Amino acid sequence: MTNIQHPISNIQIGVIGAGAMGAGIAQVAVTAGHTVLVYDTNQTAIDKAKNNLRTTIKKQVERQKLTEENAKGISARIHYISNLHDLKNCAAVIEAIVENLEVKQKLFVELESIVSSDCILASNTSSLSIASIASACKKSERVIGIHFFNPAPIMPLVEIIPAITTDENVTQSVKKIIDAWGKITVLTKDTPGFIVNRVARSYYGESIRIYEEGMADFATIDWALKTYGGFKMGPFELMDFIGNDINFKVTESVWEQFFYEPRFKPSLTQKRLYEAKLFGRKSGRGYYNYSENTVMPSPKQDDMLGKIIFNRVIAMLINEAVDSFYLQLASVQDIDLAMTKGVNYPKGLLKWADELGLANVLTILENLYAEYGEDRYRPCVLLKRMVKEKKFFYH
Ligand SMILES: NC(=O)c1ccc[n+]([C@@H]2O[C@H](COP(=O)([O-])OP(=O)(O)OC[C@H]3O[C@@H](n4cnc5c(N)ncnc54)[C@H](O)[C@@H]3O)[C@@H](O)[C@H]2O)c1
Repeated sequence: MTNIQHPISNIQIGVIGAGAMGAGIAQVAVTAGHTVLVYDTNQTAIDKAKNNLRTTIKKQVERQKLTEENAKGISARIHYISNLHDLKNCAAVIEAIVENLEVKQKLFVELESIVSSDCILASNTSSLSIASIASACKKSERVIGIHFFNPAPIMPLVEIIPAITTDENVTQSVKKIIDAWGKITVLTKDTPGFIVNRVARSYYGESIRIYEEGMADFATIDWALKTYGGFKMGPFELMDFIGNDINFKVTESVWEQFFYEPRFKPSLTQKRLYEAKLFGRKSGRGYYNYSENTVMPSPKQDDMLGKIIFNRVIAMLINEAVDSFYLQLASVQDIDLAMTKGVNYPKGLLKWADELGLANVLTILENLYAEYGEDRYRPCVLLKRMVKEKKFFYH
């Protein structure tokens, strides 16, 4: 089975979908020296991707981040194609089309009839299982998940997700390729939300819960997490930035795929925002109002309240990170890298757990569990064991 030989940059890469993600992935691959073929069913998307890349390259040359020669090379190596058959010589094809299982499966079946038998087929899906996409293929061992973050040229993290059927050589070849693109790769299991979109759910979910209970308003919760946690953006600012439509759909999908696990249960607050089309910055209003002349609400800067909010959210985040390690999604280092490089957390959560003291984190969770009696607050068994055995993640 596939084992990509050096030099990696000589291989041709196909990118399907020229939207936000596909265009970014194509830019990363072509900048790394590959010949890249980009396909999309929508000509407007192609035109937009083409123009955006042209503008980006021009700016990079002006800022002397790219030489004229390299810029010319990039323009010469990227090809926007209108026939899938042009992908026949690609060593790897990365799909970044609409998030729909049937549409993706249909595309993969068609691709298999075009590309060579050892061509790697990858999906950039954020919420579908790689196993389900691969199951449509004759050679499911060549199918893998390569999950970039938005915007792909800027965000350093890439999650690599072999399905249960993926050949180990394919995984290693993909890791080699993406590492050569200067990205930070973490290997993870084919489970809902992979690492980042699973662990990060608590940042939003627990913050919304705190708001729903009337403990604090959006501005105060954002202030608390930035002040006491050092997060660059508070959860409500961040949800408005990501888009409440996208964030709600990811939450719903992770919850459903985990067989309605209470820890991931979506909130009515977010659902109502979604239904009202209050998507956040892009629609002008979300948790905050972004229209001109609107004064942003001020937080209630109460030290004790701020610490209570921070403790509750960080304990939930750490519990999820510990559970991800306990269930062998990835190594301690990779779980921490995923959160610092994928969503800019100020510290890896497992390192943070060591610093705060695992016993302290456990106490917060046990108190919440005792008070609410809700399953969402139950501490991960590994956290309990580690406290009992006085262990650390990094010692
Ligand atoms: N946007 C994000 O933040 C983000 C992050 C990581 C992963 N993803 C995943 O990446 C994928 C693409 O997301 P996006 O945000 O770039 O979407 P997008 O809507 O910006 O782009 C999708 C593109 O795919 C094209 N397309 C749809 N069906 C096609 C088909 N059958 N053949 C060829 N082209 C087709 C569309 O014309 C569109 O240009 C999704 O699976 C999404 O879950 C998105």
